[in-house]
Amino acid sequence: MNTIIAALKTVRLSEDASAVIILDQTRLPGEEVYVSLASAAEVWNAIYKLKVRGAPAIGIAAAYGIYVCSRQIQAAAFDDFYREFLKIKDYLASSRPTAVNLVAALNRMEKVVTGHPDLPVAELLRLLHAESEAIRAEDAAACRKIGENCLSLLKPGMGILTHCNAGHLAVSEYGTALAPVYLGEERGYGFKVFADETRPLLQGARLTAYELHKAGVDVTLICDNMASIVMKKGWVQAVVVGCDRIAANGDVANKIGTSGVAILARHYGIPFYVLGPTSTIDLACPDGDSIVIEERSPDEITDMWYTSRMAPEGVKAYNPAFDVTSHDLITAIITEKGIAYPPFNDMCK
Ligand code: MRU
Repeated sequence: MNTIIAALKTVRLSEDASAVIILDQTRLPGEEVYVSLASAAEVWNAIYKLKVRGAPAIGIAAAYGIYVCSRQIQAAAFDDFYREFLKIKDYLASSRPTAVNLVAALNRMEKVVTGHPDLPVAELLRLLHAESEAIRAEDAAACRKIGENCLSLLKPGMGILTHCNAGHLAVSEYGTALAPVYLGEERGYGFKVFADETRPLLQGARLTAYELHKAGVDVTLICDNMASIVMKKGWVQAVVVGCDRIAANGDVANKIGTSGVAILARHYGIPFYVLGPTSTIDLACPDGDSIVIEERSPDEITDMWYTSRMAPEGVKAYNPAFDVTSHDLITAIITEKGIAYPPFNDMCK
């Protein structure tokens, strides 16, 4: 991993395990500021406000978060401990609805507790600590494999377009969609990356352009509405995006605007690759229509990133944070286990 990027620690546990430490992504690209989250409310807020964001990273933050908060539970008996644990779990799970990794990580942590009703609380805490670290380590290993699998489909010198941020900042390390870019960079592939700015919260401009530029990757920032022209000019040979939830039929929820990029890629005959860990697959969700799409405050469109208002006072605004890309627009879904092609029936094998 590029050492400059590896030095950025998206999410980790403090030395004494009393807090979750995150790199506050709302302060990037201007400032690299780490904040310490020691209560359930602080973890909830950091996830809701996108201080830590990206599907795998919020899963890891929630796992560390519930461990940190479990240490504060005043209970000696299992039933009392479990009751309080569940309150924290439900609260953290309510912070964002679309990425399955959040609730999946919390479910894993709960299984540790329910699987050991006879253990003393101190022992349960030790197991919860180990599980939260395992979730982080598995994510890092998965990202590296996702990168290797995708790189087998790419050629040196290719132009690659990406949307939102599915890089180092969205996971434990490497990224999902950006993992093949980092691996390719290590091996002299010389990719030319186009980063969609990703309105309204500008994850592409603030985060993807930031981390790739810092790593020395050839990255060009474009507004979302410029993807068509760069594709038409023949500058893009592949699109790589991350994912927040993959339904059983291969429909994919990802950052708002992703489906539009997929439609453009189909028009121009460019392969459209979705990259994510198998933990993002939700077989309980039959198709994209069953995925809950987070809706965020209209202020993020009308006010947030400028000192003066960008839209008339009182105007209505609609602000869905994610959209669903239909499986028939996806060339391949790439996980740590391999490359799945349509009809996506064997993704979990
Ligand atoms: O709202 P965000 O910034 O959390 O949205 C992030 C995305 O949509 C990412 O593409 C996705 O979570 C995959 S991150 C590896």
